[in-house]
Parts: sequence; structure tokens; C-alpha cells
Amino acid sequence: MERKAVYPGSFDPVTNGHLNIIERAAKIYDSLTVAIVVNPNKKSLFTVDERVEIAREATRHLPNVKVDKFSGLLADYVNDKGFDAVVKGLRAGSDFENELQMSQMNARLFTGNTETVFLMTDPKCSFISSSLIKEVATLGGSIEGLVPEFVSGRIINKLQEESK
Ligand code: PNS
Repeated sequence: MERKAVYPGSFDPVTNGHLNIIERAAKIYDSLTVAIVVNPNKKSLFTVDERVEIAREATRHLPNVKVDKFSGLLADYVNDKGFDAVVKGLRAGSDFENELQMSQMNARLFTGNTETVFLMTDPKCSFISSSLIKEVATLGGSIEGLVPEFVSGRIINKLQEESK
């Protein structure tokens, strides 16, 4: 039986930390869907379609990874698609409290046997977050090695567009 997992998040944009989790999860499951949340209440640098396009390009080398978007409750999306697992990455302890709460709430909302599964961050990625990357890039710092090279270019172009 095919084991299907989903890795949900904002991915604004995808970072090397996300890619590390994606590559590892793609080895564990037969298929992995990177699911990008549509959240009109959260200000994002990239539109959801841009985030999808960037994530698709960044995962092109992984044949069992696809990228999708969802709105509303993650649990509704998971129930609808019948995923076996929701994969999340854990960086520091500060991620844990929020993730524990969300996984327990989602467990109530899942109608099937979906499990939330946590992969511990690779130590070389533990400080990487999309928001910190955007802040550093906005202030002119180097983000080399933290996102794929083409993503770095997309961030810089976007920030230049925004400052016009
Ligand atoms: O990359 P992020 O922003 O940390 O991802 C958070 C995300 C998208 C996984 C979380 O906010 C989420 O699941 N949002 C969908 C709405 C939802 O289901 N909320 C209840 C969570 S228990």
C-alpha cells in the first residue's frame, strides 16, 4: 500500500532547512506532498502561486515530491486527501510547544489514522527560518547557503520590486 505524507507550511519561500526535511521525508514515504497554506491574514513576501512555483523548482530533483496549496483547516485537507502522515520539522525547543499543541488539536480533527511525525532538524539548518532569511536579506546581509541559489535571486528581486 502506498504511504502518503504531507509536509504543510507557509514556505515563504522554501529554505534549505525545508529542503532537508523534504529530502529525508521523501525517503521514508512513497509520496510526499509539500502543501502551502493560503492564509490571506498573514502578510507574505511571495504570493501563494509564487511560493508553489518556487517550491516546485526547488524539489524538481525529487520524483516522489509534489507541491500543492490548501486553504482552511489542515485537518480538512488531510482528511480529504487521505494522507497517512503529516510531517513537521522541529528545530529548537521553542518549536516544540506550538507543534505539540497543533498536533494534539489535529489528532482530534483527523477522521482517519493520520499521524503527525516530527523530523529533527539537521544541526546545520537549525537556525534557518524563512522570516529570518527575509529580514537578513532586507537589511543587505548574505543569505548564501541558506536557500537554493535561484531562491536567493527571487528574494532579492522581490525586495527590489517592493522598495520601488
Ligand atoms: O510554516 P508555518 O507557517 O509554521 O506553518 C504553519 C501551518 C501552515 C502548518 C499551520 O499554521 C496550519 O496548519 N495552518 C492551517 C490552519 C489550521 O489547520 N489551523 C489549526 C492548526 S491545529
